[in-house]
Amino acid sequence: AQTEKDILYKIHEVANTYFQEILWDDHEGRSIGLSYFKERELKDDIIKKFQLGYSPEKKNAFTAYALEKGYTKEILEKSGLSIFPENTPAGVDRFRERVIFPIHSFSGRVLGFGARILKNNVKTAKYLNSPETEIYHKSNVLYGLNQSKQAISRKNGCLLVEGYMDVISLHMSGIENVVASSGTSLTTEQIKLIKRLTENVTILFDGDNAGIKASFRSIDMLLTEGMNIRVLLFPDGDDPDSFARKHPQEYVEKYIENEAMDFIDFKAEILLRDVGNDPIKKAEAIRDIVKSVSFVQNALKREVYLKEVSSKFGLSEQSLFNELDVQKQLTQ
Ligand code: CTP
Ligand code: MN
Ligand code: MN
Ligand code: MN
Ligand code: MN
Repeated sequence: AQTEKDILYKIHEVANTYFQEILWDDHEGRSIGLSYFKERELKDDIIKKFQLGYSPEKKNAFTAYALEKGYTKEILEKSGLSIFPENTPAGVDRFRERVIFPIHSFSGRVLGFGARILKNNVKTAKYLNSPETEIYHKSNVLYGLNQSKQAISRKNGCLLVEGYMDVISLHMSGIENVVASSGTSLTTEQIKLIKRLTENVTILFDGDNAGIKASFRSIDMLLTEGMNIRVLLFPDGDDPDSFARKHPQEYVEKYIENEAMDFIDFKAEILLRDVGNDPIKKAEAIRDIVKSVSFVQNALKREVYLKEVSSKFGLSEQSLFNELDVQKQLTQ
């Protein structure tokens, strides 16, 4: 028998096809949606590979189409694709006048959508995403995993970026081992998805404050799951998308290879930036780094990292071990 989940998967497949047909075959879709992707220098084959689409301006374009096909208002509402306010029986589409990024499961089923406005403005959120539904749990999904899983296995490494466009641009330049956490803070479930394929993760976040904060949180989560981490922040103003479009594949690969640091050097560089000679601030920075080391589960690795901190800051291993014990008590 067909379950409600089956119908939700099906309606997402229908919506995914619909948004793509509008992008490629409809006048509004081509002149607004496709033009937008072309302005961002995306080629036809990459637009198709990621099944990008466009949702029209009309209030209930998709809702009317789905009702016509026999989907019920109840299912449309549960899918997150439509809402039916009291005085609007025709319904309202969640996504209107936006370019569409379908979000796939590991095995390639469409679970939900991200949707971007065409012109940045302060009043409207830049990205609107599907709500949590019976089939979409955003903390269990990584954007791009379906398209990237083979390259992640082959290269035995995974690049972790912030956004949809970062994944897509890197793919376009030939770098295909990349997934995005899509603006949420990285979860244990997401890390376990990567761990099926590799234990090596390189964090490539935006160089802004939000990116730095997110990378610090992600480092501790990844260490807790036993992953090996390298970290790279792009120069302020750049993200992987803009960087990959400015430089050829070999340059980007070499840049990542050469500039990515281990988490100790990375945290040290950021935390010591404005410390100067203040010993109290310096001690705080070191404690913060030791706190990250305390998340490393393997005792041997933990000791190796601590020795690195010791030689980096010219501190005795004994005092760092003492601090590590304190931190472990606090984080347990
Ligand atoms: N995001 C979101 N809602 C927002 C802003 C961001 O869901 N209002 C998520 C999106 O998944 C986005 C990611 O966080 O891709 C990273 O955000 P940001 O760096 O602001 O966006 P970019 O991907 O760089 O977007 P673009 O290049 O299209 O401007
Ligand atoms: Mn569920
Ligand atoms: Mn950002
Ligand atoms: Mn960005
Ligand atoms: Mn961007």
